Amino acid sequence: MNGQAQEIRNEVSRDYAQRIAAPNGCGCGALKPQSGPLATLAGYSAEQLATVPDSIAGSSFACGNPLAYAGVREGDVVLDLGSGAGLDLLLAARMVGPTGRVIGVDMTDAMIARANENIRAAKAGNVEVRKGLIEELPVEDGSVDWVISNCVINLSPEKEKVFAEIARVLKPGGTMLVSDIMAQDLPAELLTIPALYTSCIAGAISEEAYLSGMAQAGLVEGRVLDRLIYDAQQIEGYAEAALGEAFAATAEISGRIESYARELTGKIWSAKVYGRKPL
Ligand SMILES: C[S@@+](CC[C@H](N)C(=O)[O-])C[C@H]1O[C@@H](n2cnc3c(N)ncnc32)[C@H](O)[C@@H]1O
Repeated sequence: MNGQAQEIRNEVSRDYAQRIAAPNGCGCGALKPQSGPLATLAGYSAEQLATVPDSIAGSSFACGNPLAYAGVREGDVVLDLGSGAGLDLLLAARMVGPTGRVIGVDMTDAMIARANENIRAAKAGNVEVRKGLIEELPVEDGSVDWVISNCVINLSPEKEKVFAEIARVLKPGGTMLVSDIMAQDLPAELLTIPALYTSCIAGAISEEAYLSGMAQAGLVEGRVLDRLIYDAQQIEGYAEAALGEAFAATAEISGRIESYARELTGKIWSAKVYGRKPL
């Protein structure tokens, strides 16, 4: 195990344990207009949200709705990488029905505890959450029909391992459908700010690098199905939330946040990415 990568994961895990304890704090999902619920912006319909416990949409850190693009059917096995508090787990559980299975993997104890509370509240008997890393999935080879993930792979310091693990656990012909943050030409100075890494910006890579990583792992037909482009106001709200704490002690904070937001605008967005394991 690479020590530096593990340090980054530890920092990410500490950060998300704090965020779930204060769900109004910022997550990847804080990329949203100041008005309007995050889950709606991320592409979840009111009908879908009505099927899960009220509290769960508020503890989502989603940057899209991968299930909106997945043709998950009854009896399928769905694996969610970095399942967080479990919104996508519960939505998938309804799609696969009692003959299917949904497995979440997350490394953060507080997230797993929250997901288990939500699973119990929803009385979903076909969902389990396993503690583990998305770079070393605690899942058997060739055992799942779908790999979904929502705003997580950008956080991995070892993305090539994640893509290889996806290819390993999918059944032949199985599908990867993830929502994630993409970035292009981020200013180098921003890449060194830890708060921007845990906030899903500094670890994000370009669509080209993402699709090439998937192809190297043996996944085929890789493509972007849809994008959610953030406007300047959304980025500014996000930068304020993500950086506010990091720079709270400095006097020139607001000026810096505005200039960071300007630099980020047009350079980060959310994409739904598709790939398949060959038959
Ligand atoms: C931005 S949140 C997204 C949570 C959830 N997918 C959602 O849409 O609300 C990132 C989640 O991924 C988990 N995570 C990040 N990196 C991970 C890794 N390398 N292995 C396992 N879990 C990871 C974190 O613990 C956290 O729960």
